Amino acid sequence: MRLSRRDLLRLAGSTALALPLATACEPNGGAFGGGRGGTGSGGNRVEVTFDQPLAIPPLAESTIQAGKRAFALVAKAGRTEFRPGRTTDTWGFNGSHLGPTLRARRGEQVVLNVRNELDETTSVHWHGMHLPASADGGPHQPVEPGQSWSPSWRIDQPATTLWYHPHPHGETGRHAYRGLAGMFIVDDEEEAALDLPREYGIDDIPVIVQDKLFDGDGRFVEGERSPSGTLGDTLLVNGTLGPYYEVSTERVRLRLLNASTARSYSFGFADDRRFALIGTDGGLLSAPYETNRIQLTPAERAEIVVSMKPGERIVLRSFPHDLGLLFGIGRVTGGEDTFDVLELRATSSLSASPALPARLVDVPRIAESEAGTTRAFALESDHTINGERMRMDRIDEVVTNGTTEIWEVVNEDGLPHSFHVHDVQFQVLSVDGAEPPPELAGWKDTVYAPPQVPIRLIMRFTDYADPNVPYMYHCHLLLHEDQGMMGQFVVVERGQRPGELQDHSRGH
Ligand code: C2O
Ligand code: CU
Ligand code: CU
Repeated sequence: MRLSRRDLLRLAGSTALALPLATACEPNGGAFGGGRGGTGSGGNRVEVTFDQPLAIPPLAESTIQAGKRAFALVAKAGRTEFRPGRTTDTWGFNGSHLGPTLRARRGEQVVLNVRNELDETTSVHWHGMHLPASADGGPHQPVEPGQSWSPSWRIDQPATTLWYHPHPHGETGRHAYRGLAGMFIVDDEEEAALDLPREYGIDDIPVIVQDKLFDGDGRFVEGERSPSGTLGDTLLVNGTLGPYYEVSTERVRLRLLNASTARSYSFGFADDRRFALIGTDGGLLSAPYETNRIQLTPAERAEIVVSMKPGERIVLRSFPHDLGLLFGIGRVTGGEDTFDVLELRATSSLSASPALPARLVDVPRIAESEAGTTRAFALESDHTINGERMRMDRIDEVVTNGTTEIWEVVNEDGLPHSFHVHDVQFQVLSVDGAEPPPELAGWKDTVYAPPQVPIRLIMRFTDYADPNVPYMYHCHLLLHEDQGMMGQFVVVERGQRPGELQDHSRGH
């Protein structure tokens, strides 16, 4: 394990912060939130008074413009009342915090009319979407204050739960933390043919989980407080503090999105009941997988279905989990914390839900023999990948359109890192040489990389070549990404040369 002097200094600093964080849970219960904290076996434990109905982000309205489904998103600053009588300065799309749920069907052309009414440059990235690099919304598609940007593409990937968030280089963490994030649901015929709960806001519920630190005046505290970034002591679900949701059906589908900048969760229920994992980042699994825990590092998603009995109340909880970290790093990066997330309250009579199908969709395994190129990515100390920090004007990898590649990722650092690739949904070939566990057997775009554990990913690059506009790959702990743990790849046609990149990030 290689820890830089800087990391060690930070660790020393944040170990000192671990105790204040434990006591910080009390202000949450008293002055601001509904939580009660305390230290259990090393980690913080945050219990919550569930006294506010869970907000359901509205489905974004759309119009048909020249045969394309058009959405409008306006990024702006506002104030949000997370607790009655207390307002927090926040950012949101089309509102003061978070954004509407976008929803489109496979095969549709979409156009996203994005307008920036903030007083600084941002961008909007469609996380997990297969699309042209110029529509990706990464750091090379900045939207200046007062300006608009209207990328368009054809939705062509399996039904799943994606999301969108800003991606300005060096500022992604701050922009997302202030509230710029939303869900993007893709539908398709295969999913529509299955007996699954799918009534949005009734038995198909977005669950966008973010941890926040509030100061005594109810403001978001920003700035890194641990080697992974800011760890909050208070959870918001869809922007609701202390949320409960009234369930009226025997089964409910939760679309879990870890939209936190740094914190990982291991979701389960307080009574340890089992649930069915039906989908991961890029689509449904081939069959429901019954489990009692699902770990999500930043940006990962999972769709789960849980059964309820009339009148019962159950609590979605995040449990302590082992991220494979050493020397107390797990503790200072939040892995020992317990959070009550969301209370599900079943009504006294529930409408019947069909039994879960035994099979879901085909997830054909990509054969290793299909891959022509293998690349290695070492996540190293000081926020580097293969020894380099992100540079806007450097192309790190050149990929040929129409080919399949294996990317071998290893975290050679001691800190937690996740690995995200734009444009594609990949499959995990192996983790430490072994077959992936069921939760990593479906389509993924972000995967946790425990220290010293090699992970092999296989992915197909199809449809979009552009020698002049790169896609990104990076750690999705946003502090790490912002500090440079990111690289750029272009997809070119066979024989085509990559172009020259410019630094659009203006001063970063
Ligand atoms: Cu969720 Cu490069 O992003
Ligand atoms: Cu992304
Ligand atoms: Cu990282």
